[in-house]
Amino acid sequence: MKALVLDAENRTANVQDIPRPSPGAHEILVKVEAISLNPIDPLYVAHPLAESGRTVGSDFAGIVSELGSHIPASNTLKIGDRVSGFLQGVCSVNDRPGAFAEYLAIPWDLVWKVPESVGIEEAAGVSLVALTAAQGMWYRLGLKAPFAYDEAKVLGEHSERAAGRMEDQGEADVINFFVYGASTSVGLYAAQMIRLSGRANGRKVRLFGAASKARWEMLRSEPYGYDHLVDYRDGDWPEQIRRLSEGAGMHYAYDCISEGSSVERVSSILASNGRSAIVRSRAGGAWKAGQLPVEPIYGAVWEGLGEEVQYQGFTIEKSPAARAFAVEFYQWLSSAVGSQLKPVPIRSMPGGLERVVEDGYRLLGAGKMEERQTKRAEEWMNPVSAEKLVYRL
Ligand SMILES: NC(=O)c1ccc[n+]([C@@H]2O[C@H](COP(=O)([O-])OP(=O)(O)OC[C@H]3O[C@@H](n4cnc5c(N)ncnc54)[C@H](OP(=O)(O)O)[C@@H]3O)[C@@H](O)[C@H]2O)c1
Repeated sequence: MKALVLDAENRTANVQDIPRPSPGAHEILVKVEAISLNPIDPLYVAHPLAESGRTVGSDFAGIVSELGSHIPASNTLKIGDRVSGFLQGVCSVNDRPGAFAEYLAIPWDLVWKVPESVGIEEAAGVSLVALTAAQGMWYRLGLKAPFAYDEAKVLGEHSERAAGRMEDQGEADVINFFVYGASTSVGLYAAQMIRLSGRANGRKVRLFGAASKARWEMLRSEPYGYDHLVDYRDGDWPEQIRRLSEGAGMHYAYDCISEGSSVERVSSILASNGRSAIVRSRAGGAWKAGQLPVEPIYGAVWEGLGEEVQYQGFTIEKSPAARAFAVEFYQWLSSAVGSQLKPVPIRSMPGGLERVVEDGYRLLGAGKMEERQTKRAEEWMNPVSAEKLVYRL
C-alpha cells in the first residue's frame, strides 16, 4: 500500500510502498478514505523524534475492511461501516503506526462510527481536536460531560484536576469562560462543549473569546454563541476582557494557542478561584511565564490512546482512565456529531498523499502559529482560519 513515510535525515516525508498491516486480535483494519492535518503532524517531521521509515500522520476517516479475531460480541462494528479516529504516528519516540496510509490497524474501541449525515471528509477532521477539547473541558477543567464516564478513576490518576468543577464556582449567577484562540479547531469544539455543559448544569455561561475580527460573525452565531469577543492582535485585549466582565474575571479559561506570552496574559484575567487549561507544555518551551498564581493544567490528547508517550526529555505516563474516557467520548460522538456537535468546516486540499508535505505541512508551519506564512498564490494555500485541511486518499 501507499503511505507517507518519515525521512528524518532530510526532515521531510515521502510517499512509499510499504506492507499493508494486519489487524491484531482486538483491532480493526480500516481502508482510509480521508485524512486531516494537525499542527503536530508537520512539527515532528521538521523536528523528528522518530527514526526514518515510520508512517506519519494522526487523523483519518475510512471504511472498516477487516475485524480482528477477538473483538467482543458487544461491539456493533461491521465490515463496511464508516469510522474515524486518530493514531500517534511519529509524534513520540515510541514506535507507533501513523494514519497517512491507504490502510491502518487500530483498536476497535478507539474509533467512532460516522453518522449518515456527516461526510467522510468532515469526519476526518473531528477525532483528534474534538478529543483534545473534550479532555480539556470535561476532565481537566471538570465541566459536566453530556455522557457518563468514571470520573473518580480519572481524578484518581490526575489528582491535580480535582478542582474546578462548575458547581464549585459557588452561587455566581453567571459563569465566565474565556477561550483564547477561539477560531482554532480546538477552540471551535471547546465553545460547543462549554455550551453543552452549561445546559447540563443549568448554569448560565457567559462566553468570552479572542480571535481575529474576520471570525467574529461566525463565533457569535450558533452553535458557538460567543457573548464577547476581542481581537488577539490588540495589545490591550486582557484589559478589554476585564472591562467586559465588569471586573469579575474568568472562572475558567482555555488557551488554545499557549505560545509566547499567551499563558501569562490568560492567567492575568482569571477570577480569584479561576482555573485554566493549556494545549502546549511549559517543558516544550513554546511559552514562558514567571510565577503564575495558579498553574495551568496541561495534558496531551495522546493520553486517550492509553499508552505511555515519550518525548526527548519527558514522558507522559500511561493513563487507563484517560483511555476509558476516550472510549466513552467516541461512543457519544457516534450519535452526537452532526446533531449536538458541529464538525469544524473543512478545506478540501487537492492532490492526495503526494501533496500533504508540499502544501498542507507548509500551511501549518513547523512550530509556532506566529511563524505560519505562505507566499503561494493558489486558492487552497490561503492562511488556515477556523477550518481543517483535509485530503482524500
Ligand atoms: N495538547 C494537545 O494534546 C493538543 C492537541 C491538539 C492541538 N494542540 C495544539 O493546539 C493548538 C491549536 O491547534 P488547532 O489544530 O486547533 O490549530 P488551528 O486550527 O490550525 O489554528 C488556526 C487558528 O489559530 C488562530 N491563531 C493563530 N495565531 C493566533 C494567536 N497568536 N492568537 C490567537 N489565535 C491565533 C488563527 O486565528 P484567526 O484566523 O482568527 O487569526 C486560526 O484560526 C496548536 O498549537 C496545536 O499543536 C494540542
